[in-house]
Amino acid sequence: MLPQKIPSRIAMSCYWKVLGILLLFLQSALSLQPRVLLVSFDGFRWDYIYKVSTPNFHYAMENGVHVKQVTNVFITKTYPNHYTLVTGLYAESHGIVANEMYDPVLNETFSLTKMNTYNPKFWEEASPIWITNQRKGHKSGAAMWPGTDVKIHGVLPTHYMPYNETVPFEDRVAKLIEWFTSEEPINFGLLYWEQPDEMGHFLGPDNPLMGPVISDIDNKLGYLISKLKAAKLWGVINVIITSDHGMSELSSERVIELDQYVDRDLYKVIDHSPAVAILPKEGKLDEVYEALANAHPNMTVYKKEQIPDRWHYKHNSKIQPILAVADNGWEIVHNKSDIFLVGNHGYDNIIPEMHPIFVAVGPAFRKNATKEAMNATDLYPLLCHLLRIDPLPNNGSFNSVKDILAEVPGAFGADTCSTVIGVFLGSLLVLVFTAVFVKHFVLAQANSMHILHTEVAQPLLQDH
Ligand SMILES: *[C@@H]1O[C@H](CO)[C@@H](O)[C@H](O)[C@H]1NC(C)=O
Ligand SMILES: *[C@@H]1O[C@H](CO)[C@@H](O)[C@H](O)[C@H]1NC(C)=O
Ligand SMILES: *[C@@H]1O[C@H](CO)[C@@H](O)[C@H](O)[C@H]1NC(C)=O
Ligand SMILES: *[C@@H]1O[C@H](CO)[C@@H](O)[C@H](O)[C@H]1NC(C)=O
Ligand SMILES: *[C@@H]1O[C@H](CO)[C@@H](O)[C@H](O)[C@H]1NC(C)=O
Ligand SMILES: *[C@@H]1O[C@H](CO)[C@@H](O)[C@H](O)[C@H]1NC(C)=O
Ligand SMILES: *[C@@H]1O[C@H](CO)[C@@H](O)[C@H](O)[C@H]1NC(C)=O
Ligand SMILES: [Zn+2]
Repeated sequence: MLPQKIPSRIAMSCYWKVLGILLLFLQSALSLQPRVLLVSFDGFRWDYIYKVSTPNFHYAMENGVHVKQVTNVFITKTYPNHYTLVTGLYAESHGIVANEMYDPVLNETFSLTKMNTYNPKFWEEASPIWITNQRKGHKSGAAMWPGTDVKIHGVLPTHYMPYNETVPFEDRVAKLIEWFTSEEPINFGLLYWEQPDEMGHFLGPDNPLMGPVISDIDNKLGYLISKLKAAKLWGVINVIITSDHGMSELSSERVIELDQYVDRDLYKVIDHSPAVAILPKEGKLDEVYEALANAHPNMTVYKKEQIPDRWHYKHNSKIQPILAVADNGWEIVHNKSDIFLVGNHGYDNIIPEMHPIFVAVGPAFRKNATKEAMNATDLYPLLCHLLRIDPLPNNGSFNSVKDILAEVPGAFGADTCSTVIGVFLGSLLVLVFTAVFVKHFVLAQANSMHILHTEVAQPLLQDH
């Protein structure tokens, strides 16, 4: 019981302080929201986890959800698909239609091979999720995810690393851990790693030497998990491990030489095999098209308006007038002296070899569960749901993927449940504290009001 002689000013200020602390607790319970780390191992084909022992992938799968077939977007290349994952849009709608692009409206080029990817105009047909996240007052952090060091619509991620492929995986992980555990933590992190794509191109996916490359990625995932555990983030944040595309085995027996069919001087190749973007010289569209249309049984050639609707790859000025697409495992070159790779991707997105891995693990997700199939465009609305932000118009479907969540939202989700409990406990504490305060102090003061009324009244008025 508070002694009656405590000056009421001090008692009241005490009350407000304790109440303030309780309200902070209540607020943090209310804002207690899932955090997400999105990881991409470039070119990690969906079935690599079955080729060699991958204990860390399987550990994540047993503790989370494994989606077996993810249909990514056409063209199945790096930049288009990484932008789809963070916008939920098909390539024709987000505007990053290839790794190598020419914009006839701007008369400007975009090139991954020349690292000329920083012109924001190429990115600004869409707004990636980190921008929307930050507009909602949250913080994002990105370790080299494509586009995250580009000022898109004037905005960069709250924290980011300028792209530099020589920066080790460990340094990228260290940054993310730092951002997730800082005093003003991020709720959304993105982590990108160049392998196993580069080695897949170089060795071919069927090469036994890919075994150690895949094992190395598994070790890197193990490293990430151990660092998250050490930072007490594992099991607390939601981690999504995915990729942009798979990889197909090529062969010197499966090469289509454009020079055999049409004069090189009649056109320019904007983007390379296996989905070749062709810009004919002025007035040469029909000539080039006619020459290539039935040239080779393993190459399908489309005028832009003929490109199949299911690819959603037509309605954009950066898609060139002619598109020549090779069958799986085939390459299209000028002639055989063009260097060609042992593995490649970019083919029809219906081909299983083009599909990426997908594992989601964390408190928001079901445990030891599998889902047969999803579209890569569905990740974006899922991320927005987890981050509690409103998705921008997109081509994904939250309904198609909500079954990977631990509790189907709409009913009381697991996250909703903990918020409700937090709010309930917080409110209870505030009520109990106020009741005790009123009983022990205010009533006591009121009883002696006839003596002390001037002293009691003033602080109450002031503190209000
Ligand atoms: C496009 O830009 C190039 C230089 O990058 C220039 O040579 C060419 O004339 C420009 N074309 C048009 C149509 O403006
Ligand atoms: C890229 O990273 C490496 C290793 O961290 C560093 O030595 C190099 O200076 C960096 N390059 C640039 C251009 O920042
Ligand atoms: C290449 O074309 C031949 C002839 O049409 C066809 O039989 C074969 O299946 C094609 N290859 C691929 C990988 O589609
Ligand atoms: C292939 O094209 C290159 C130019 O890119 C040329 O120098 C070479 O002679 C060509 N090879 C054949 C076999 O035609
Ligand atoms: C995961 O599920 C499989 C069967 O689907 C079961 O054999 C395995 O023991 C489960 N693992 C865990 C960790 O629950
Ligand atoms: C993927 O999207 C297409 C087109 O919206 C839809 O028909 C298909 O059912 C979706 N696939 C899955 C697995 O949700
Ligand atoms: C994809 O979404 C964008 C944005 O809502 C929309 O403009 C476009 O028509 C959609 N594409 C398809 C094929 O529905
Ligand atoms: Zn890639």
